[in-house]
Amino acid sequence: MSADREAARDAVLAWYDEVARDLPWRRTDDPYAILVSEVMLQQTQVSRVVPRFEAWIDRWPTAAALAAAERRDVLGAWVGLGYNSRAVRLQDACVVVARDGWPADARGLRALPGIGPYTAAAVASFAFGERVAAVDTNVVRISERLGLGGPDELLPDDDRAPTWNQAAMELGAVVCRSRAADCPRCPAARWCRSAGRVVVPPRAARGTRERFEDSDRYVRGRIVASLANGEPWPDALDAARVERAVDALVRDGLVERTPDGVALCG
Ligand code: ADE
Repeated sequence: MSADREAARDAVLAWYDEVARDLPWRRTDDPYAILVSEVMLQQTQVSRVVPRFEAWIDRWPTAAALAAAERRDVLGAWVGLGYNSRAVRLQDACVVVARDGWPADARGLRALPGIGPYTAAAVASFAFGERVAAVDTNVVRISERLGLGGPDELLPDDDRAPTWNQAAMELGAVVCRSRAADCPRCPAARWCRSAGRVVVPPRAARGTRERFEDSDRYVRGRIVASLANGEPWPDALDAARVERAVDALVRDGLVERTPDGVALCG
């Protein structure tokens, strides 16, 4: 690795050491807790995940506890965290772990239901200390802006690899953001091909983007939340949209049609 590359990496690691946010999943090397946090963080901002993560771990402290939980309770506890199918797959993965134990590495983790390459790498890195790059959209963006050959180019060869993964995510989350790069605060600016020149495409004009409340995902979320809580869904939901959403949820295996209407599966 060139001296410049090494200097950039060391600057980012030193910066992270100083500014890292104290987040609960950074205080543990429990693969289950790390898996839960990574799945929650796929959809939801860090500040909103923290209390939900803590409540989840209190309620289901181990993979075996989550594996044994009622699916309805799991879906109920997921309300507001985004795609419900993620909660189902998280539980399915824990069923396999409760039966077979944790896989030894990122490759094995990828074989669990619903665990993609990013999540597998994050768990292997943060829980097992494996030297593997956890590449999410933030990390890809940083690597492109810096002008690296690939997102794993700066991954340390030694036991700093997990810290590097956290540091790269942190840099993308708080400094090198997609729409507001804060180059004056960036520890890597001196080595960055794009420093001070990040061009951000304007957001779609107001009014041309669909409101979340008008999306099919919103309707699916309302239906699952209502079924989990044993309440009717709001009358304000248009019947045709409800039908379409129920069809999609049936296709995804989350709900089933019963003689009485609709029920959560499992
Ligand atoms: N987003 C995804 N994974 C994260 C992590 N481990 N810490 C902070 N933000 C994240």
